Amino acid sequence: MSRVAYVNGRYLPLAQAAIHVDDRAVQFADAAYEVIAVVDGRIADWQPHLARLRRSLAELRIEGVPDAAALGVIARQTLRRNRLRYGLLYIQAGRGAPGLRHPARDSTFPKDLRPSLIMTCRPVDFRKVAARAAAGVAVATMPDERWARVDIKTVSLLPNALAKQRARDAGAFEAWMVDRDGHVTEGASTNAWIVDADGALVTRPLSTDILAGITRQVVIGLARDAAIPVRERPFTVAEALAAREAFFTSTTGGPMPVVAIDGRPVGNGAPGETTERLVHLYRRHLASFGADPEAALQALGG
Ligand code: PDD
Repeated sequence: MSRVAYVNGRYLPLAQAAIHVDDRAVQFADAAYEVIAVVDGRIADWQPHLARLRRSLAELRIEGVPDAAALGVIARQTLRRNRLRYGLLYIQAGRGAPGLRHPARDSTFPKDLRPSLIMTCRPVDFRKVAARAAAGVAVATMPDERWARVDIKTVSLLPNALAKQRARDAGAFEAWMVDRDGHVTEGASTNAWIVDADGALVTRPLSTDILAGITRQVVIGLARDAAIPVRERPFTVAEALAAREAFFTSTTGGPMPVVAIDGRPVGNGAPGETTERLVHLYRRHLASFGADPEAALQALGG
């Protein structure tokens, strides 16, 4: 975690960084967030993350959050004050706290709220992430019990947290959530993919059923550049088990090979060739944000 956090206009030591008890994020999960990779002290894929944050805020009708330039200044200050070189930046923007003039805990939107803004960051040893990707991970499937607008990146993450914990309790690293038709929606904090018999990537198309992952978007671009076909369509757990390869994507781990689903092996039970290619292409993409991309690539696991 950062030693210094930005909270509503101030940079504070973490122990003193707090939000108001009536902040609507606490009572109504009335806030949106982003998690963004930091490479060599620089912010990776800032524009798409910002665009998604803007969209989330628009869908939630939260107005008055600082503009892109101001958010960029605060983000860079937060990284600088924490001397962060490699890690993750967290941004949370919410509707704010009603204050003394308004009755507390009114679910309708009080007028004249000042939106709240939080930024924190933490170091990540990306070599450890690379080691995990080299071995691959297991996933456990379970029903998707979330609300109907998971395309909005809100802090309302309790079903995701419960699913992830259930997966961990079952000895898996990630949960894959399944809709009523038996199709995989996405992971608890990742997008889900398989590689079909033709070597094409298959991932669920964008809709209100999944988050439009930035890593998903980047991987689609990288695959197209590498002439790997991409088919955006839903797939079932049975299809995933019969697939050549499976993986998931997120900012925290990039493309991550899935070697087992519910205790059964995917393919030969080792990370697949296509996934490994994407892992490296994605690492190169991230490294390109560093001042010295070759040094950054080494720090990201080579
Ligand atoms: N999670 N799906 C869900 C439900 C997510 O929470 C996330 C991101 C993703 C992948 O999105 P992206 O590629 O933009 O990181 C998909 C973040 C990292 C988190 O909550 O930690």
